[in-house]
Amino acid sequence: MGKNQDISKFLIRAQEEERKKIARELHDEVGQTLTAIKINLEILKRKLPPDLIPYIEESISLIDKSIEQIRDISLNLRPSLLDNLGLKSALRWYIEKQKEKSGIDIEYILDFEGESFSSDHSIVIFRIIQESLTNIIRHSKAKRVLLNIKENDEELVINIIDDGIGIDVEGVWQEVKEGRALGILGIKERVELLQGSLEIESEKGKGTKIKVILPLR
Ligand SMILES: Nc1ncnc2c1ncn2[C@@H]1O[C@H](COP(=O)(O)OP(=O)(O)O)[C@@H](O)[C@H]1O
Ligand SMILES: [Mg+2]
Repeated sequence: MGKNQDISKFLIRAQEEERKKIARELHDEVGQTLTAIKINLEILKRKLPPDLIPYIEESISLIDKSIEQIRDISLNLRPSLLDNLGLKSALRWYIEKQKEKSGIDIEYILDFEGESFSSDHSIVIFRIIQESLTNIIRHSKAKRVLLNIKENDEELVINIIDDGIGIDVEGVWQEVKEGRALGILGIKERVELLQGSLEIESEKGKGTKIKVILPLR
């Protein structure tokens, strides 16, 4: 493996470590503080004259919202599920959450064991799904998504198919070259570091298919 690839691998690991740290601090520190403020407000609420109560109630619901936002941000930065329960549960949780949020019909098959995957592999697979689904929700106007991850003898095959507006494949590769399509560039770099391949197929108006093959051994 070349020197540049060593550096990329190092940088991606460093970025993942940093994300993990920020996620934990956000969740543990800021989350705790907000919860403490909320408890204080609940106590105050009982002592206040009735005309002030709506203000406290509004503040409490703003805090609830912030607590939820912080949980979402830290889960997206680094799902602790990935470390605690493993790739499959983390993916299931993530997909269900996106499904619920977007209203898109996401059908998925997670046909792999995963216990033997290196943590580099698990993170890359999770990031691929995360970026692809985010793209679908943000850009595609799709109604349906089929997501299939299948483990064969020596490799993992990931297919993510949507029925949205489609993508100008050559245009996107050009953007990747120029360092503009950062999401797809991120997928490509991570996949190549694991000696895998990324293919994008699309026809205008007929949706998009992302195919990733990752060698496992
Ligand atoms: N599933 C999709 N359907 C339609 N267009 C897509 C899809 N995925 C990506 N794109 C297009 O490819 C571009 C590049 O994607 P990406 O690199 O993730 O950048 P970003 O999401 O930040 O715009 C997007 O701006 C969008 O135009
Ligand atoms: Mg994107």
